[in-house]
Amino acid sequence: MFSEMIATLRPSPIQVMAERTRQAIQGGRSVVDMTLGEPDFPTPQHIGEAAVRAVAEGQTRYTPINGSTRLREAIARKFRDGNGIDCSPANISVGCGGKQVIYQAFLATLNPGDEVLIPAPYWASYADIVGMNRGVLKPIGTTPEAGYALSPEALEAAIGPRTKWLVLNSPSNPSGTAYTAAQLMAFADVIRRSVHRNFFILVDDIYEHILFDGICFATLAALAPDLSGRILTVNGVSKAYAMTGWRVGYGCGPLALIDAMTKIQMQVNSHTSSISQAAAAAALEGPQDELERRRAIFQGRRDLLLARFGTIPGLRTPKPEGAFYLFPDCRHFMGQSTPDGTLLADDVALSSYLLDEGVSVVPGSGFGMPGFLRLSYATSDEMLRLAAERIACALGKLS
Ligand SMILES: Cc1ncc(COP(=O)(O)O)c(C=O)c1O
Repeated sequence: MFSEMIATLRPSPIQVMAERTRQAIQGGRSVVDMTLGEPDFPTPQHIGEAAVRAVAEGQTRYTPINGSTRLREAIARKFRDGNGIDCSPANISVGCGGKQVIYQAFLATLNPGDEVLIPAPYWASYADIVGMNRGVLKPIGTTPEAGYALSPEALEAAIGPRTKWLVLNSPSNPSGTAYTAAQLMAFADVIRRSVHRNFFILVDDIYEHILFDGICFATLAALAPDLSGRILTVNGVSKAYAMTGWRVGYGCGPLALIDAMTKIQMQVNSHTSSISQAAAAAALEGPQDELERRRAIFQGRRDLLLARFGTIPGLRTPKPEGAFYLFPDCRHFMGQSTPDGTLLADDVALSSYLLDEGVSVVPGSGFGMPGFLRLSYATSDEMLRLAAERIACALGKLS
């Protein structure tokens, strides 16, 4: 009855843990939820008001498939003035979240067996989207010692004749690793030197505005304009403006790729909501000062958690440069037992144990790194302190 593809599709590890958390909380248990990747702030008021105005003004009809003219102009301006990427509204694709833009890019380009190179740990959805489109995920290994950063040497070794995409996500979900301009230029050199030229580069900048310690945001298409005919830069309003539910993401890329993606979108959902598009335009055109305030809050939360985690024996947590996740190395605890004698064979078992102890996290295996965990710190300081105490206590009981 069902397709071969659907049998290969695993439930999202994030959603699995989120659902178990919901059930535990509904069952009356006290659980600090660190599973979901969404800011805990409200959408800024002026953005909501723009949406209400859009309804009142009758902006409730179909828009162009690749987004309203006003929104694509605002996005092109953001890429040009904010990122230094030379583009026009024709280079822009707007989808129902960055996820749809990424999905359509892979669907438009992958043939069975084409390879997609992604530094691990990676956002779990990339793996599934590649698989759904009959591509082959080729993770490139990184280490906690190197802050989970891809090295130019590892990139060079990974590129081959079947490479169709390289994915660079900075700051990264789940590791928070961010690349400097110098690091990106080194990757650009590898790409230029390679004899294999038949591949695109997906640059996922969705966490652009959540970057710490004064690190300057850098993006490949601005640094290597000679490669821009092969780069799709993806971004969106979900994380920056706390607009996860509005479902607006966008990409900037070469015309032929954008046209192919638009052809697909025409038969999928036409476009994202006209009202959400008006709200996203208001987000990009309006005041930006809230971004800095929220960025500073995330940095404070990171520091709070890191300080406490640094005192937990056996837990090694590289310092993330951005986004709102920690990705601790928990391999020390693999094979240990809980007080009731349950063996923690892997990161899934460790996550289950932590949930029983009142903190829900996502197993690192879902992000291509078994033995690690991902914790989202998009929650209040008070909850983070409670979570850190519970984790310290739970890990302290293992033997
Ligand atoms: C790395 C990364 N890229 C893209 C997205 C897509 O976000 P959205 O579809 O809400 O724009 C997410 C969301 O979690 C993400 O973590």
